[in-house]
Amino acid sequence: MATLLTEEPDYRAFWEERLQNPYPLFARMRSEDPVHWCAPMKLWLVTRHDLCFTGLKDERFSSNRSDMYVQALPPDLKAKVQPLLDHISKWIQLTDEPDHLRLRKLVNLAFTPRMINQLRPRIEQLVDQLLTDLRPGEPCDIIKRFCQPLPATVICEMLGIPLAERDRFRELIEGIMHFSTAGGPNLKHHAENAHAALREVITLFERLVAERRQEPRDDLLSALVSAEADGERLSNEELYAMCVFVFLAGHETTTNGIASGLMALLQHPDQFSKLKANVDAHVRGTVEEALRFESPVTRAVRKATERIELAGKVIESGQLVVFLLGAADRDPALFPVPDTFDITRTPNKHLAFGYGSHFCLGAVLARMEMEIAFRAIVRRLPNLRLVTDQLDWKPTMGIRALVKLPVVLGESL
Ligand code: HEM
Repeated sequence: MATLLTEEPDYRAFWEERLQNPYPLFARMRSEDPVHWCAPMKLWLVTRHDLCFTGLKDERFSSNRSDMYVQALPPDLKAKVQPLLDHISKWIQLTDEPDHLRLRKLVNLAFTPRMINQLRPRIEQLVDQLLTDLRPGEPCDIIKRFCQPLPATVICEMLGIPLAERDRFRELIEGIMHFSTAGGPNLKHHAENAHAALREVITLFERLVAERRQEPRDDLLSALVSAEADGERLSNEELYAMCVFVFLAGHETTTNGIASGLMALLQHPDQFSKLKANVDAHVRGTVEEALRFESPVTRAVRKATERIELAGKVIESGQLVVFLLGAADRDPALFPVPDTFDITRTPNKHLAFGYGSHFCLGAVLARMEMEIAFRAIVRRLPNLRLVTDQLDWKPTMGIRALVKLPVVLGESL
């Protein structure tokens, strides 16, 4: 059997974070070496769906890996960005039990289904407003005009970020996110940016939290401030970390879910027509297939806490394991003709929201936003079309994100 060589063009581009289409490489990994040691990155890459599925609920794999950021940085920079590293270590996604359960209980109090469902009319209104602002006949980047502002506004309103500060806030959080999703040679550069961004973000949250303590409102931030379970509350540092992480986890991911789904619909006119013909019947399937086809979060990273055997390979204690969700979601063992975009695919047990105790907290909200967005596009912009098939993806390994999605609107309705 051929073995993967790290110098092969696709593989090299992958670990240098510039591979545009990772799926052929993922397919090779899945069939040739599904638990693969990536020497340049010094970590394991797991690509089969069954292995990702069982691995993500295996408690021998820890989520607490903030030291991977520490180890990757040179000592002088490490000392400089220590507050950033301390902050990241409090992100719910990077905690293990019992801390994780404690944080999850507290955040669940603020993130109730009632609260999420209450957002529906507001999201519908926002979608309508954003689509009304688009002009028929004029090419535009629909990510900038629609896919990005929608989840950003939703999450900013949930967190109570004042309107005038939202653009700056989003920019800052993006800086932090680029550090947390970078794995390759760009890490040091992203660390400096993220460190500066975090200082500004914390200053903003200190003010907002003080305001909520003084005068609670009907928003997520107030709910987080007052959340109490088993006699415990979030400390200030945990509160800031939760706000930053919720924004970071819920904003670009949803943007990319909507954008990639739209891209897939426009590149597969038969599927777009099917959706238009019966939106009630197919919109949920479209959301799930969009999440599977271009899984917006391409990986879930864990650290082995002991020597673990996986598919014949021995993972040593302390080694990092990357469960490649984007690869698992194209596994032909679970998804027949996996490279085909099919909005009627059933079952569709993708791992786009992860699996196990860290399963995405915002899945209900993300699905709702995507559903409302696709419904409105079908109703308001049925003649939408792509300007080009030459689409670029952002050079970041952890997320699947289009740079732009240039479209032309037909007559809006
Ligand atoms: C299409 C959109 C989204 C995708 C694809 C997505 C994907 C994911 C994935 C894969 C995980 C698990 C990561 C792991 O196991 O290491 C996760 C966790 C999480 N997500 Fe999402 N997410 C989305 C939207 C959202 C939204 C809208 C929010 C909140 C407003 C959110 C909040 C979170 C939080 C807080 C966690 C951490 C949960 C924990 O560690 O217990 N996500 N998400």
